[in-house]
Amino acid sequence: MAKIIDGKAISAQIRAEIKEETAAFAKETGITPGLAVIIVGTDPASQVYVRNKRRACDEVGFYSESYELPEETTMEELIALVDKLNGDEKIHGILCQLPLPKHLDEKEIINRISPEKDVDAFHPVNVGKIMIGDYDFLPCTPAGVMQLIKRSGIEVAGKECVVVGRSNIVGKPQAMLLLHANGTVTVCHSRTKDLAEVCRRADILVAAIGKADFFTGDMVKEGAVVIDVGMNRRADGKLTGDVDFASVEPKASYITPVPGGVGPMTITMLMQNTLTAAKRRVR
Ligand code: GUN
Repeated sequence: MAKIIDGKAISAQIRAEIKEETAAFAKETGITPGLAVIIVGTDPASQVYVRNKRRACDEVGFYSESYELPEETTMEELIALVDKLNGDEKIHGILCQLPLPKHLDEKEIINRISPEKDVDAFHPVNVGKIMIGDYDFLPCTPAGVMQLIKRSGIEVAGKECVVVGRSNIVGKPQAMLLLHANGTVTVCHSRTKDLAEVCRRADILVAAIGKADFFTGDMVKEGAVVIDVGMNRRADGKLTGDVDFASVEPKASYITPVPGGVGPMTITMLMQNTLTAAKRRVR
């Protein structure tokens, strides 16, 4: 029987800490951390994320602005908005919700956001800083995973860590953070030979491939820590992770549920990055 890592509870705890720190920082400096969220088009999932981000800002006492732009927004218009926010004193963090509509160049927009305000940590300057272990911001999902591990009292040093998935948003930075924590890290992907065999070596398995219920009990070592980053919608509309909870849970020592595991942490880490950005302004 695995211990269930309660992402909602850990997230609430961190948000309470951020709220307290924000109040103390505002008292000392007169600065309220400010986050701007940009969304282009009408993707319903993106709209939900944006609404949740605004709510989270209210909860921890941040100032927030959201820009909901029409699908036909041009690069020139989006760049003009990013430039305006880069120069706005009230705004410490800028997040442009991805994916953008096809006619817009995501890379150019990511590069345009000032690295000091890049609370997603997607700008090449911030990605490079993570690589050398000298960073201000960590990408929200991998940072959330590290908090779940740390606050559950799980030691990473010396452990076999297997990350499945190599995206720029999750897999690659996740591997780097586990490495910084002195894990022995293997990164797997769609071309990995005998994936199940590699997964069975893991003391800590991070599943981030976006395939519903892909990881089954036979792919997991007895006593492994299993972190499920997946967020998939089943045909019946139910939300499910990359891990087949029913067969993996009996073998794992710790496991994150979906929903209620990694998901709640992501926005919380965005709040953490925004507070860090505001603090950096006065340093
Ligand atoms: N779309 C899905 N996840 C994310 C995220 O973490 N940041 C941004 N900007 N867009 C996303």
